[in-house]
Amino acid sequence: MTDSNLWWQTGIIYQIFPLSFMDSNGDGLGDLPGIVSRLDYIAMLGVDAIWLSPIYPSPMADFGYDVSDHMDIHSTFGTMADFDHLLAEAHRRGPRLILDLVPNHTSDQHPWFVDSRSSRDDPRRDWFIWRGPAPGGGPPNNWVSYFGSAWTFDDGTGQYYFHQFREEQPELNYRNPDVLQALLEVMRFWLDKGVDGFRVDVIALLAKDERFLDEPSNPDYRADQLVYHSLLHIYTEDQPAVHDYVRAMRGVLDAYDERVMIGELDPIGGLMSYYGADLDECHLPFNFNLLEISWEAMVVREIADAYDAALPPGAWPTWVLGNHDRRRIASRAPQGQARVAQMLLLTLRGTPTCYYGDEIGMVDAEIPPDRLRDTTGYDHPSDALRFSRDPQHTPMQWDASRNAGFSLGDAEPWLPVGADAAHVNVALQDRDPRSMLTLFRHLSALRREHSPLSVGSYRSLDPGNERVFAYERRAGSSRLIVALNFTGAPQAAELGSEGGEVLLSTELDRAGPERLSPFRLRANEGVVVRIVGR
Ligand code: GLC
Repeated sequence: MTDSNLWWQTGIIYQIFPLSFMDSNGDGLGDLPGIVSRLDYIAMLGVDAIWLSPIYPSPMADFGYDVSDHMDIHSTFGTMADFDHLLAEAHRRGPRLILDLVPNHTSDQHPWFVDSRSSRDDPRRDWFIWRGPAPGGGPPNNWVSYFGSAWTFDDGTGQYYFHQFREEQPELNYRNPDVLQALLEVMRFWLDKGVDGFRVDVIALLAKDERFLDEPSNPDYRADQLVYHSLLHIYTEDQPAVHDYVRAMRGVLDAYDERVMIGELDPIGGLMSYYGADLDECHLPFNFNLLEISWEAMVVREIADAYDAALPPGAWPTWVLGNHDRRRIASRAPQGQARVAQMLLLTLRGTPTCYYGDEIGMVDAEIPPDRLRDTTGYDHPSDALRFSRDPQHTPMQWDASRNAGFSLGDAEPWLPVGADAAHVNVALQDRDPRSMLTLFRHLSALRREHSPLSVGSYRSLDPGNERVFAYERRAGSSRLIVALNFTGAPQAAELGSEGGEVLLSTELDRAGPERLSPFRLRANEGVVVRIVGR
């Protein structure tokens, strides 16, 4: 690690979905004191920052991504004093704290929208996007939300407001400079408290084309996708003005020391443009390229190579394997590949973000239809079953006790605990020198000890076997090779003619000098090897 590298470059980010991490008061819902009680665990993981999904007051139409007050704490999660305590305690132990900033929309209960909706003459009318009906009646244009029309008619004032998510999430109008100023003020409020940065929700959507023209249909749309994908979003996504807003946000962060801005971005959009022409926008535009791929060595290699090659000079890479919106990696990847996936995440070049529970191999839980919580917004009940994000929101599995140790009280957790909690949990894995949790800790320690992993260059290798993804990480004369067997069968790989020393295997049972040609990988095995020369 060199002096010039910042914490958000060398570090690991750990995402917490606050409703599901730890319930301290026994109401079945996670809370901030619960997170405080688990800070030792988080520090023990060797992660450097915690990102909290939204904790602000919210009617919870979208799990807090419908904010009704940007500068307070939802009573479910605790009080502002609880937040201050969490921040101080996290910092005392090491991890930084990153908040979720939701600038694109508010809750329909937010006072800004309540004012805006009250009359066409309200000074805040223009803070949101209002349009009259189309000439022949009906919505102003064909724009769609994730779930249906993007326009909801307001009887009181006879106009439609725009929303690309639920109708309870009206979108702010950044063409009005007061809106941007209000957002920047929110950022300063939290930065002044000492938070270390923001993960910025749907950042590519902040600007909409002012002509409100219809969007063309998407020729590749499949009926099994959400309605949102039926159109090509040429007027609602990646609009030029968005970069002005992002630069303004970055300007606020730059007035403080070492704060980070992470943008939530679709890989299909202009991901790289969100670094900014002068690297003056997001520090880390999230890289979701690994979220929707088929899990094959050559597919992942192609993605890693293309991503690395496309990075603007000086831009810092970043990788994600899961989050609260996507199926968990242990369920997405073929059986047996969860460890290989974690090794990949923690050894590729760039800042990794780990979704809570992935470090112990939690899988998507089966949610009985009568326990579904993520249902609103979907037009058909069957959509809710298919698209609900509940399976990846289930309580953190701490131990084999009642409620998996998530809730100490009698209340049922808000979502059912995963069926495998009796054998997939922190307490068991903490004692097991060969558990997935132990692997995660070894990987985070390895990143710290070996600068090639945290700050070194990346180059993919040709191991002579398409089922193995192998790459070199190098810093100065120090070189490591990572070789990952993407299959459930043993594989041989050509890793070069030099001498090697295995530093870590996903099986945690192998270390020491080893032949690199051929290098024998067992089924579902990944290794980190140090090159020791001839
Ligand atoms: C982001 C969030 C998602 C939320 C949406 C609307 O994609 O990650 O959970 O539903 O934005 O805020």
